Amino acid sequence: MEKEALPMHGGQRRARSSGRRSWTLLLVGLTLFAFGVHIQLNPWRGQRSVTIPLHAEHTIARCENLKLKPGPPPTFNERKQSDRFVPGTRPTLIKNATIWTGHVKGLDIVKGDVLLDQGLIKAYGKVDQNVLDKFEGKVDVLDVKGAWVSPGIVDLHSHLGVDSSPELRGASDGNSIKGTIQPWLRSLDGLNTHDDAYHLSISGGVTTALVLPGSANGIGGQAFTIKLRDTAERSPTSKLLEPPFTINGTHIDLSLPPRWRQMKHACGENPSRVYGSTRMDTVWAFRQGYNKARLIKESQDAYCEKALNNEWTGLGEFPEDLQWEALVDVLRGRVKVQVHCYETVDLDDIVRLTNEFQFPIAAFHHAHETYLVPDLLKQAYEHPPAAALFATNARYKREAYRGSEFAPRILADNDIKVVMKSDHPVLNSRYLLYEAQQAHYYGLPANLALAAVTTTSAEVMGMDHRIGYIKEGYDADVVVWDSHPLALGATPTQVFIDGIAQLKAPHTVTKPKSFQKLPETPNFDKEAADALKYEGLPPLAPNKSKGNMVVFTNVKTMYRRDHEGVQETLLSSSTELGVVVVRDGNVICSGLEASCASSVSGYESVEYVDLQGGAISPGLVSFGAPLGLEEISGEASTNDGYVFDPLVGGIPSILGGETAIIRAVDGLQYATRDAYLAYRAGVTTGITSPTSAYLLSGLSTAFSLGAAHKLEKGAILQDTAALHVSVHHSRSVGPSVSTQIATLRRMLLEQRDGEAGKWWKAVSEGSVTLVIDVHSVDIISTLLILKKEVEAQTGNLLKMTLTGATEAHILAKEIAAANVGVVYVPSRPFPTDWQRRRILPGPPLSKDSAISYLLAHNVTVGIGIEEIWSARNTRFDAAWAALEAYGEISRSQALALASSNLEKLLGVDVEIEKGDLVATAYGDLLDFGSKVVGIISPRTARVDLFLM
Ligand SMILES: *[C@@H]1O[C@H](CO)[C@@H](O)[C@H](O)[C@H]1NC(C)=O
Ligand SMILES: *[C@@H]1O[C@H](CO)[C@@H](O)[C@H](O)[C@H]1NC(C)=O
Ligand SMILES: *[C@@H]1O[C@H](CO)[C@@H](O)[C@H](O)[C@H]1NC(C)=O
Ligand SMILES: *[C@@H]1O[C@H](CO)[C@@H](O)[C@H](O)[C@H]1NC(C)=O
Repeated sequence: MEKEALPMHGGQRRARSSGRRSWTLLLVGLTLFAFGVHIQLNPWRGQRSVTIPLHAEHTIARCENLKLKPGPPPTFNERKQSDRFVPGTRPTLIKNATIWTGHVKGLDIVKGDVLLDQGLIKAYGKVDQNVLDKFEGKVDVLDVKGAWVSPGIVDLHSHLGVDSSPELRGASDGNSIKGTIQPWLRSLDGLNTHDDAYHLSISGGVTTALVLPGSANGIGGQAFTIKLRDTAERSPTSKLLEPPFTINGTHIDLSLPPRWRQMKHACGENPSRVYGSTRMDTVWAFRQGYNKARLIKESQDAYCEKALNNEWTGLGEFPEDLQWEALVDVLRGRVKVQVHCYETVDLDDIVRLTNEFQFPIAAFHHAHETYLVPDLLKQAYEHPPAAALFATNARYKREAYRGSEFAPRILADNDIKVVMKSDHPVLNSRYLLYEAQQAHYYGLPANLALAAVTTTSAEVMGMDHRIGYIKEGYDADVVVWDSHPLALGATPTQVFIDGIAQLKAPHTVTKPKSFQKLPETPNFDKEAADALKYEGLPPLAPNKSKGNMVVFTNVKTMYRRDHEGVQETLLSSSTELGVVVVRDGNVICSGLEASCASSVSGYESVEYVDLQGGAISPGLVSFGAPLGLEEISGEASTNDGYVFDPLVGGIPSILGGETAIIRAVDGLQYATRDAYLAYRAGVTTGITSPTSAYLLSGLSTAFSLGAAHKLEKGAILQDTAALHVSVHHSRSVGPSVSTQIATLRRMLLEQRDGEAGKWWKAVSEGSVTLVIDVHSVDIISTLLILKKEVEAQTGNLLKMTLTGATEAHILAKEIAAANVGVVYVPSRPFPTDWQRRRILPGPPLSKDSAISYLLAHNVTVGIGIEEIWSARNTRFDAAWAALEAYGEISRSQALALASSNLEKLLGVDVEIEKGDLVATAYGDLLDFGSKVVGIISPRTARVDLFLM
């Protein structure tokens, strides 16, 4: 009998000796004729005869195959060409590389060359000249001059192609809402090949991604591993890496082990929320689904036991069900189960489920509480799952509230495999390596941090036989970096996928020499221990210095504000580092020790803080997210909420109707965890406007992120700062852009009553800044015209600042000419939606970044954030902006982007002498290896000190 197609419905009929036809129904819809074979068994017993069905041979092969463990065929390592090789691809020799191979737990580093041919890594290290001679010169040579080379980045959790960018409703295929348990769905069926993010993510070194369905369902469906590069076929299927045999129907060789399949599960808030149910309902749905699969599996096993014993009589059809076959495969240990699961209660539910139904799971994703319960993970069936984490994205819902930046290192200490993942587009996977860099900064050993986005992620998706390492015979997915990969801002200078160079004319920045070494990281042992001790909620309130005199010693540099921005002063000489003497929160002396001796003498209790070559810098400012108005974004009861909008539903008359104007200061909440974490990272001020879903926001406020409550001295820097509005294309039925502009025109040109009228008048007179959140370059043009129109009519110059401003670079010249400033949010752009699709991506894809381009056109630029958890990362955002700018942005300017420029652009007037200062040990605020150890506040006459 010929080999069947996908053996789903192999028919079994008792064939009569008359030779009656039997039918074999194939999944692919073919129907074949065949004849049964009548065999006398046990002829010496005479009577009994057994009819062996036509498909016996196939059935036996199939039953034998069920015993095989998934993985590559035994001969896989002997391959000479990749199944993904594109004929015509020239071999490449990457010369003079510093190769992080992934071997020896990520500790192996080899100096030498890497030879790529036939879609494979053919050799690395010292490449034999004989091998090279065979190419007769037909090899592209890339001399990387000692640069770091790593395997391609492997993202274990992505929604590339199913949550595409720019986001359009027609391209949102991440979640089905048709049921809780749907193992039959396949992310591949929705994979959009026109997602702008494929090329962007490649430019960050990502070569492979596991595309998971979303988390709206308990079982959201099957996931698929893709390579990100373009293919000649241009089809979703041609992007697949080792798809399971079931995906394509035909030609299954049952003597081979199956390939790994992948499946998404989710527990906790998402699946429960979507179906208006509870955790109890979701877990019951899981158990019901798994029980269904168990029954099928058991009947298959019983069937196979008989078939393999040649007991065909009355055996009937192989029991199966297309809807449930994938879940049956889970029970057979043939599926890498990827479980979105955060909280201890949910982790415990799933661990019990694995033991009840006896299946292993590959990883818990998000997994914010895994670090609190490593022993629970070890109780999971067969092996502990890996934890796939974000580095610092946390607290956005209850499940994530106890998330810790120390989770990666704590889990690694407990022998749990750590993976850093993007959840793209939740985090832009172009910067997945940044997650590993941050994990390293907070204590994950370097070898494990790099492995967390290469070898470990490859292993957890069952692909480590071909990706995740630099190794002979592995896929030629290789990244050449412009610095050590764990240095902040590491950017590819070239990316190879299947041996094909992906960057056509890469723009390369020469990084400082020190960036070629592994960055040193501060000590966070105490903080990590506290994260455990306090179950994820360690106290974060700052501690005041004991006395009123603090002396910072071994200070290298001091950055101070002046009217121009931020200026750098070197305090050290060639032989000696400097000191900074602070009394009552004011710097009274800075320079070499001898020159400050007199300011210290006579004081009894002087607190000395050794900065070990560190610096004093201006406190940074956070803008863009509702910091101070939110505690847990996803929990309305912890947030200030939304303002009324006159264009949508109107403003209640008791509030004053159109005359009302809302002040953010009235809704401020202090001592939120994100505020304190930002404060501990050198961000001392928040500027926040009321939260609005439409056009009108209200009056922003500037406040201290270190204050415990609003009545504390210095808690408010400026109660009202600027008037904020936003003009965007609405996603659904919101007011049109033209309606929003018409409203603005009326506000600016017509005298109106009440409180709101007063503020709008001040804006038209140019005494209050109008801050407009806008992304589209078309809307920006309209706003520049409106500004002119208003100025022509009133004779006043408007103060206007654009925030968000993703497409602003297209009008850099005009924006500068109009004397309009820009707060660029987020500081590294992403084409989230249509109105911000025209990004200037920065190196390696474009020479300029949007920030450097705007600055070069003399636009005043600040940087901001979109979500409150990321306020703490402001200093790295500023440093990164400078790193991308070919030295055109100095350290002082980088600090100004996130401090003085923001204040200026957002209407906050801080007396220069009263601005907060930040003390960092081991380097300055922009250095990835430094640690914030103190905040100096002249306004409140105090110094807060943190652990060294
Ligand atoms: C590799 O590049 C470095 C930096 O350019 C250079 O100093 C070194 O001599 C090169 N080594 C070889 C073997 O070419
Ligand atoms: C699917 O099957 C066709 C026909 O046999 C084959 O040419 C193709 O390579 C297969 N595709 C995949 C992704 O396995
Ligand atoms: C920006 O300002 C500088 C200094 O005033 C000037 O030399 C330069 O030409 C300006 N650049 C642009 C693009 O206008
Ligand atoms: C404050 O001091 C206590 C006791 O010394 C210490 O445990 C805690 O970590 C300190 N808090 C901060 C924010 O440094």
